[in-house]
Amino acid sequence: MNYINPSPIKAAITAVGAYVPEEKLTNAELEKMVDTNDDWIVVRTGIKERRILKDSSKGTSFMAIKAAEDLLSKRNLNPKEIDAVILASITPDMNVAATAAYVASEIGATNAFGYDLQAACSGFLYGMSNSSNMIASGRYKKVLLIGADKMSSIIDYSDRTTSIIFGDGAGAVLFEPSESGYGLEDEFLRSDGTGRTFLNIKGGGSLFPTSEETLKRGMHNLYQDGKTVFKYAVSEMANAIEQILKRNDINQEKISYLVPHQANKRIIDAIAKRIGLPDEKVMSNIEYYGNTTAATLPLLLKDYESKLSPGDRLVFAAFGGGFTWGAAYLTWTY
Ligand code: UT7
Repeated sequence: MNYINPSPIKAAITAVGAYVPEEKLTNAELEKMVDTNDDWIVVRTGIKERRILKDSSKGTSFMAIKAAEDLLSKRNLNPKEIDAVILASITPDMNVAATAAYVASEIGATNAFGYDLQAACSGFLYGMSNSSNMIASGRYKKVLLIGADKMSSIIDYSDRTTSIIFGDGAGAVLFEPSESGYGLEDEFLRSDGTGRTFLNIKGGGSLFPTSEETLKRGMHNLYQDGKTVFKYAVSEMANAIEQILKRNDINQEKISYLVPHQANKRIIDAIAKRIGLPDEKVMSNIEYYGNTTAATLPLLLKDYESKLSPGDRLVFAAFGGGFTWGAAYLTWTY
C-alpha cells in the first residue's frame, strides 16, 4: 500500500544541478561502429546523440561531483550543512565502497552520511521517496539526491541493440522542508523481480562472480530484451501515473509537466497519448542525451528549470531493470 504523506513536514526540491560530458557520440559515428543507421535510430528511439565520458580514468563519481558542485554554487550552499547524500546509480565507481561516500567527501559534505541506491532507471524516483521521507521524519534538513550513470562503462559497443540507446550524465537535487507548502505530494512505487531476465548485467555479482568464462561470454555488459521491456514500460508507467492522478484528483489539464524516464521516445509518446497529454506538457531530452538511466529525471529538471513556477504540478514516472517502476507527484517550489 502507498499512503499520502501523513507527516506535517513536506519535502520540497529547492535546487537543481547537472553535468554532462563534452564529448558527443552521434548516430553518424555509431553507423561506423555497428550495423545501424541514423534513420532507424531516430525513428525507433528518437535519439540523435548522447554524451560519453571518454576519459577512462574517470568514473561515475566524477560526474556526480560536478553535478553536486553545480547545485552548491547555484544555491550558494555550504556543503557542511548537508545531512545525507544519496547516489542513485547502476555504475558505481567500484562494486564495494559506496560511491556516495566518496562524492560526499569530495564536495566537502563532511557532516553527511552517504549511500548508493540501485534501482536502475527508477533509481532517482525511488531516491525521491527516500529523500523526502528523511525530511518528513524531521531528523534531516538537507538531503542531496544525485542520479548519475556512466553507462558507457557497461555497454558493448559492438552490440547495436544497446549501444545506440545509452549515454552518460549526472543530475542532483536538494530536498529540504517546504516553506511554501509545495513539495512531494504522493508516490506510487512498485517492482517485479521476475523481470530480471529481460534487463540485467549477469556477471560480476554473487550469482556469476567474474571469471574467464563470464568475461568470454560478455556477461559484464548490459543485456536487454528490448521488445519485452518496451511493453512492460509503457503499461506499468501509464498504470502508475493513472493511480497518482486518481488518488490526487488531478487530470491532464491540471498537470504542468510529465517528467518521464527517457528510454525511448516511442514509450514516452505512448504514455502521453494514453493519459491524454499534449507534447508541450511532456519534458524531453532524449534526442540529445539518450537514456542516461538514473540521471534522466534530474537532467530533465535542469533543462526545464527556467520554465517552472511555484505551484506547478509535476508528475514523474520511470521504469527500469529489476523490474522497478513507479510515479510521483510533486508541486514545484520556486
Ligand atoms: O531504460 C530502461 C528501460 N528500457 C527501455 O525501456 C527500452 C525499451 N526498448 C526499446 O526502447 C526498444 O525495444 C529498442 C530501441 C531497444 C529496439 O527497438 P524495437 O523497435 O523494439 O526493435 P526490435 O528489437 O523489435 O528490432 C526490430 C528490427 C530487428 O530486425 P528484424 O528481426 O526485424 O530483421 C532488429 O534486428 O530492427 C533490428 N535492429 C536494428 N536495426 C538497425 C535492432 N537494433 C537495430 C539497430 N539498427 N541499432
